[in-house]
Amino acid sequence: MADQHDGTRCVHAGLPDPVPGEPFLPGPVFAAPYHLDPWQGPAATPNGYGRPDNPTRRLLEAAIGDLEGGDCRVFASGQAAITGLLLAVLRPGDTVLLPADGYFPVRAFASDTLERLGVRVAFVPTVGPYPSLEGVRLVLVETPANPGLDVVDVPALAARARAAGALLAVDNTTATPLGQRPLDLGADLVVASGTKALTGHSDLLLGYLASRSAELLDTVTAWRTTTGAIPSPFDAWLAHRSLATLDLRLARQTANAEALARLLADRPDVTGVRWPGLPDDPAYPVASAQLRRVPGVLSFDLGDADRVARFLDAARLVAAATSFGGLHTSADRRAQWGDDTAPGFVRLSCGVEDTVDLVADVTTALDAAGPGGAATAG
Ligand SMILES: Cc1ncc(COP(=O)(O)O)c(C=O)c1O
Repeated sequence: MADQHDGTRCVHAGLPDPVPGEPFLPGPVFAAPYHLDPWQGPAATPNGYGRPDNPTRRLLEAAIGDLEGGDCRVFASGQAAITGLLLAVLRPGDTVLLPADGYFPVRAFASDTLERLGVRVAFVPTVGPYPSLEGVRLVLVETPANPGLDVVDVPALAARARAAGALLAVDNTTATPLGQRPLDLGADLVVASGTKALTGHSDLLLGYLASRSAELLDTVTAWRTTTGAIPSPFDAWLAHRSLATLDLRLARQTANAEALARLLADRPDVTGVRWPGLPDDPAYPVASAQLRRVPGVLSFDLGDADRVARFLDAARLVAAATSFGGLHTSADRRAQWGDDTAPGFVRLSCGVEDTVDLVADVTTALDAAGPGGAATAG
């Protein structure tokens, strides 16, 4: 499908060949054990037991693998995929570089668990500077990073990693495979949360890993089978069903993000607006060379927690919720989760509402929230 465009690829990704009388996307196969051939046993079928093998999962893996340009393994959540990669690949004495400004549970896992296992952990800001990669086993970057939306030049870092014999993994959660194909940019591995824009309906958790290295895939597959970090067949099926509209959803989310980023950047009562598609954003030069489309997530600062609460209370189209990438516009004051962001820092995820309605709602809500500082009554 390499010669087809994004919308076409999303609609057809991972679907079986047409069979008269069968559905386009077969329904979820719910099975722990499957019938075995009494003489040949598991050699006769790819389906022996549900933890290693499930046909619904394999179709989803074919779909995501097609979009990422590699082979894919899906996991129960993004965290399951990322921690699975780290634990499957790293050994005591190895050094791993992780983003200092990325998804904070990954940092917490590294400090709590990896260091306890004897892995050396160093945190590097997404924009660098990156230290020498000599002697480093794995570099994991998140680009655009959540929640600060900084961007790293993946081809340049991939060249440095290759020269030093380090593996480069890219967390592609925010961009999705339509926004960026890290394996084409030189990364060895992609990891991501499929909970966000990839599936986009805020109704399931999913993670995945993709690579072109059979050896890495074997290691990670063995890890997944042993630890059992698999998604359910129903979640895998829901995810596959949702993938078909990824192109459409992203197009509207990006358009909404552009309109809101411009609105917010023009308001004197909002500071620190970040969206990699704004020409004066620090990430713009690298983002415009590297991203195929800019994600629908932006961030800004409203000064203090009370003002954020007044904004969210007044908005009718911006749900107070964590996560991002869904159909419904939502916003999250990250400090309330223990993320080391400023008290008024907000990550806003654009949904697929009509742009004109969203701009009107955010304008009204900001006006109603008033200035920062002391909370107004009510
Ligand atoms: C960039 C990034 N990576 C990984 C994760 C973890 O994904 P999940 O919540 O599906 O475990 C998240 C969750 O927000 C994320 O934003």
